[in-house]
Amino acid sequence: MGLCVWLDASKPERRPVHMSNLSFNISFGAYCLKAAGDSENSMSRTVQVAEPRVGVLGFGYWGPNLVRNFAEQNALAAVCEQDPSRRKKAQSQYPHIQIFADYDDMLKSGQIDAVAIATPVEFHYTHAKAALQADKHVLVEKPLARTTRECLDLITTAKGRDRRLMAGHTFLYNAAVRKIQQMLHAGELGDLLYIYAQRLNLGIIRQDINAMWNLAPHDIAIIHHLTQKNPLRVSARGLTYLRHNLPDVVFMLLEFPNNIAAHIHISWLDPQKMRRMTIVGSDKMVVYDDVSADAKLQVYDKGVSKVSEDKGKQAPSSFGEFQLLIRSGDLLVPNIHFEEPLRGECAHFLECIKTGRRPLSDGWDGLRVVSVLEAADQSLGQGGIPVDINPSIFRNAPPIASETT
Ligand SMILES: NC(=O)c1ccc[n+]([C@@H]2O[C@H](COP(=O)([O-])OP(=O)(O)OC[C@H]3O[C@@H](n4cnc5c(N)ncnc54)[C@H](O)[C@@H]3O)[C@@H](O)[C@H]2O)c1
Repeated sequence: MGLCVWLDASKPERRPVHMSNLSFNISFGAYCLKAAGDSENSMSRTVQVAEPRVGVLGFGYWGPNLVRNFAEQNALAAVCEQDPSRRKKAQSQYPHIQIFADYDDMLKSGQIDAVAIATPVEFHYTHAKAALQADKHVLVEKPLARTTRECLDLITTAKGRDRRLMAGHTFLYNAAVRKIQQMLHAGELGDLLYIYAQRLNLGIIRQDINAMWNLAPHDIAIIHHLTQKNPLRVSARGLTYLRHNLPDVVFMLLEFPNNIAAHIHISWLDPQKMRRMTIVGSDKMVVYDDVSADAKLQVYDKGVSKVSEDKGKQAPSSFGEFQLLIRSGDLLVPNIHFEEPLRGECAHFLECIKTGRRPLSDGWDGLRVVSVLEAADQSLGQGGIPVDINPSIFRNAPPIASETT
């Protein structure tokens, strides 16, 4: 089958490109491969970029971490920042890259294949949409957008242009979270019963969003990957102390199919830094303490077993014939090799661009998180009543990605 290659002439750099058993030199950049004879619409597809060049938008608090990680992976090509003092800082730290003051200029420059967005949440949708429309692959910091409608539009736009869209759910790239996921999928914990999470600290207090929108996306994303289920409904109660109408402390309950539930306690008004999640399975229980230096994961071989009072009977005919036995076994602290989760996140984004692979935290993952936050907002406004999440928004979603799929 013959191959046609379309090249973006704005990028004259020559680099070798390897595709399965093909290897040849071409002018590198955004390009498109098409099997000869296929119709443009049905079969044309984007070819993976061999060495993606990333532009980071926003060099405030979090942007420099993305910049550092992409620079360490030889993928940083540009930074865009509207604040002159922050631009100066970026330029002094990375003198070899181009610094832009205007986002459109960076998108039009021909310097980048992908954008990583670290601007405040209110701009995520417009910045991500503009990048996708300029045919860039996009990594958006959490949360993906403000509404499920915005998320769905980004997913559709990315699909239409065959670009990778990824949400910055950093904790999914944490070795401890991956280990819990592996244990659950291997059946080591038995059936997943419930999860509770606490993400507490004194500050950082954001001016633009409440504590739930700022902190809960991490826990919600982890919980979706552990349950491997779309959320059914959410209830949330908030406590507001510092500013009008922006809760500082939030307690939220997420419900999933099969009687699985998750509770999240969020606060930026707490004396202790705590990032802790307890996962209760029918056979074993796990405590994930992200702040602990040497025991991030503790696996308890504990549980409650139902046994028949009449040992001779195979299956008791009524509940009264059961006896509940508390089982308390060993505590295991697995030896896990940790690296900075953001490093893994950035490497995964680059790998997805190179290979065309679906990101672990894809647009649907971003939508799932925002659907919970949106419903929780409604619940907060109505005194904590349970708010159903419309299942039709997940109609076209593929199964939740995991390391093993
Ligand atoms: N994954 C994580 O663990 C994590 C941690 C912290 C923050 N974040 C996320 O990172 C994002 C940014 O948070 P932050 O704390 O860095 O915010 P910030 O306000 O400190 O920084 C945002 C920067 O973007 C710049 N900016 C805004 N609009 C721009 C535009 N149109 N062109 C150029 N520059 C523009 C601002 O000047 C500012 O410097 C948020 O979405 C936040 O949720 C993620």
